[in-house]
Amino acid sequence: MTLNRQLCLSRNIRQGEAVTSELFDMKETAIPEPGEGEFLVKTTALGFSPAQRAYLMGEESRFHTPIEIGDIMRGRGVGEILKSNNDDYKVGDIVACSTGWQDYSVQSGDQGDLLVKTLQKVDNPQEPLYLHLGILGSSAFSAYFGLLDIGKPQKGETVVVSSAAGGVGSIVCQIAKIKGCKVIGIAGGEDKCKWLEEFVGVDETIDYKNDDIEAKFKEYCPNGIDVYFDNVGGDILDFALKNIALKGRAVICGMIATEYQEPPLPGPRYYYNVIYKRARIEGFFVWDYFNQFPAAEKELIEWYKSGQLKSTEDVFKGLESAPDALQAMFDGTSCGIKIVDF
Ligand SMILES: NC(=O)c1ccc[n+]([C@@H]2O[C@H](COP(=O)([O-])OP(=O)(O)OC[C@H]3O[C@@H](n4cnc5c(N)ncnc54)[C@H](OP(=O)(O)O)[C@@H]3O)[C@@H](O)[C@H]2O)c1
Repeated sequence: MTLNRQLCLSRNIRQGEAVTSELFDMKETAIPEPGEGEFLVKTTALGFSPAQRAYLMGEESRFHTPIEIGDIMRGRGVGEILKSNNDDYKVGDIVACSTGWQDYSVQSGDQGDLLVKTLQKVDNPQEPLYLHLGILGSSAFSAYFGLLDIGKPQKGETVVVSSAAGGVGSIVCQIAKIKGCKVIGIAGGEDKCKWLEEFVGVDETIDYKNDDIEAKFKEYCPNGIDVYFDNVGGDILDFALKNIALKGRAVICGMIATEYQEPPLPGPRYYYNVIYKRARIEGFFVWDYFNQFPAAEKELIEWYKSGQLKSTEDVFKGLESAPDALQAMFDGTSCGIKIVDF
């Protein structure tokens, strides 16, 4: 390849509009040259997060800075270093970092002053490399630290996971099973529930689009929910709090159901259970655990190699499919971790 293909924002997304390729222009520019202390990374795969939709909205949201019209779409990727002027990052090293939606990017290894560090050297690369954006990457680290450090599940406890067939959720379910818990996965639709039971290996599922969630909680969690891992917020969080066990823990990872609603929705109605059940609600931010990623990666690789952790990536092919992969997070059409492999 002699040119650098880049997907750049052509206009802001409208309220309720799907993410499509119409929002982006494919540009071709020269492959950039790394300056002093910098290195050139060739992207081999991209990962996705629901947060990326907020970047397209053109306004400062609660958590995210928008990208400007004409700018390269921001996003995390994994790739190999092709050229380097930095002794700490050698040619052939593999890094996961903010590559953007493009073939090549110049990175600086200097994260010294940054509050949030995201450039990760992959010490033990596994094939295919996209695993380092998937079950060995930031989705997996979110599941790992959110569940184990905040949820602290004990053997025999009941763990309920929302958006269980999603990227983070499908890994939370597997780690909770590894830890000897009873796992109930919540997902939208029969097919996703079947996938959770037959492939991911959860004990029970709740189809939140068709089932009576409260009745199912009563049936599957007669002693209450010990750990609720929340990816969605809204009504499902509310019912989970209503059914939380004594000393239960609600781990707040995401709120895809309500995050983009303006004005923000009022808080959960069953909040009082935090007192009655001496429960704990705690959020977390995966990048706060950056320095512990290598230890988590080591354990995740062991689980993966021993067959205890299954790969749940849903792989889209080619840079041009990046808008479809991002949209798939919102239309519920796909299971597992969305990846674009180049
Ligand atoms: N705290 C952190 O550091 C951190 C890190 C990473 C991710 N997150 C957050 O964690 C959550 C999970 O991330 P992910 O990347 O794994 O995404 P994900 O769960 O794969 O997101 C896509 C899924 O969300 C579900 N969904 C979409 N709209 C929904 C709605 N209105 N109500 C209920 N479910 C809906 C759909 O599943 P169904 O078809 O089953 O509805 C869809 O397949 C996100 O909210 C993300 O922002 C937080």
